[in-house]
Amino acid sequence: MHAFQFQTTKSILSEVGSTSKIGGIMADMGCEKVAFVTDKIILELGLAKASLDSLKEAKIDVHIIDDVVADPPEEMILKAVDECKGAGIDGIVSVGGGSSMDTAKLIAVLCGSDQPISEMYGVGLVKGGRLPMVLAPTTAGTGSEVTPISIVTTGTNEKKGVVSHQLIPDWAILDAELTVGLPAHITAATGIDAMVHAIEAFTSKHKKNILSDTLARQALELLGGSIHTACKDGQNREARSNMLLGSMLAGMAFANAPVAAVHALAYPLGGHFHVPHGLSNALVLPYVLDFNMEGASHQYAELAPIIFKDLAGKSEAEACKGMVDGFKAMGPELGMQSKLAEVGVNHNHLPMLAEDAMKQQRLLVNNPREMTYEAALDIYTQAL
Ligand SMILES: NC(=O)c1ccc[n+]([C@@H]2O[C@H](COP(=O)([O-])OP(=O)(O)OC[C@H]3O[C@@H](n4cnc5c(N)ncnc54)[C@H](O)[C@@H]3O)[C@@H](O)[C@H]2O)c1
Ligand SMILES: [Fe+2]
Repeated sequence: MHAFQFQTTKSILSEVGSTSKIGGIMADMGCEKVAFVTDKIILELGLAKASLDSLKEAKIDVHIIDDVVADPPEEMILKAVDECKGAGIDGIVSVGGGSSMDTAKLIAVLCGSDQPISEMYGVGLVKGGRLPMVLAPTTAGTGSEVTPISIVTTGTNEKKGVVSHQLIPDWAILDAELTVGLPAHITAATGIDAMVHAIEAFTSKHKKNILSDTLARQALELLGGSIHTACKDGQNREARSNMLLGSMLAGMAFANAPVAAVHALAYPLGGHFHVPHGLSNALVLPYVLDFNMEGASHQYAELAPIIFKDLAGKSEAEACKGMVDGFKAMGPELGMQSKLAEVGVNHNHLPMLAEDAMKQQRLLVNNPREMTYEAALDIYTQAL
């Protein structure tokens, strides 16, 4: 077996109501004044109440940063860093989706050193340390609570990643109760994002390993078995809990066996058309899977019956075709758009999208089949 490295969040608490323990956890880490990074919807829904109450009880001052927006723009993050530096923040808490958690992670490293953000984009380029940090996801999801990754929208509408081990938080707090009110269309999109993390980790070209494979299989068992129930019956606690655990396991997998062409082709859709991250993945997924068959059919055939139980016992070719068809059907089944034309893309946009996708070499190097500009254009054309 080839050598591998595996890193993840050191401490994980999975328990209903566990955000009420955040105050005690921050106090144990010696924090006295924390930034609380979230968005206005999370605050309005009361999802931050238990954690804010616990911080108050622990006598920790709180500076709320609630102007996070989806696909966090760089200038919003830098403004928050200035505020935090001015306020003398010594710890970071985030309760929210991937956009809030990714913002929190960058604030934690940018407050911990004077390195400019422009020098952090890429893999392993963060030089300093970071402030103590606890993350609690409210979507299931990005897995950001266990990954060394933050995704930022830069001034040029390009989505860039900072990938460095300092971005892994001290604690991940999983409280499935926070996800019970998540609307069906966000449950569907974020759930498919998590499934794509597991699938792309399982076929990741250079770094897949026995741990990432095991986590990816288990993640797909949980996510594939619960995504329909979680979308149709949001109050179903078991389905919600399976989704949250599944997205964390998928996060652990792709944090160590990175994602590839599905994400590379999805990012330009987020950057230019503000298509939510999970939906942009879902729109290109079946066509990228089809393209990748040449390099990954054996692996896809192993995953197919885990996700789609009716594919058990089928031949490799049948299982692979069934998986592509299954994902083509899943979008409409879950009430999502299924074609690029439905999110404002037309034929004239496709060359620009393919050019931008090819800039995502950080991701494309992990793809099981070499991606070219022509292939990317063909995939977008099929997805239109
Ligand atoms: N760091 C990583 O490893 C990683 C991985 C994948 C994606 N991402 C990034 O994460 C971002 C997407 O994150 P996301 O998909 O979690 O969505 P998000 O954080 O952008 O949130 C989407 C919407 O859902 C709302 N919302 C969140 N939780 C809710 C709840 N419980 N109830 C009701 N509404 C709720 C938010 O207010 C927001 O309006 C993108 O920028 C993407 O690039 C990061
Ligand atoms: Fe993703």
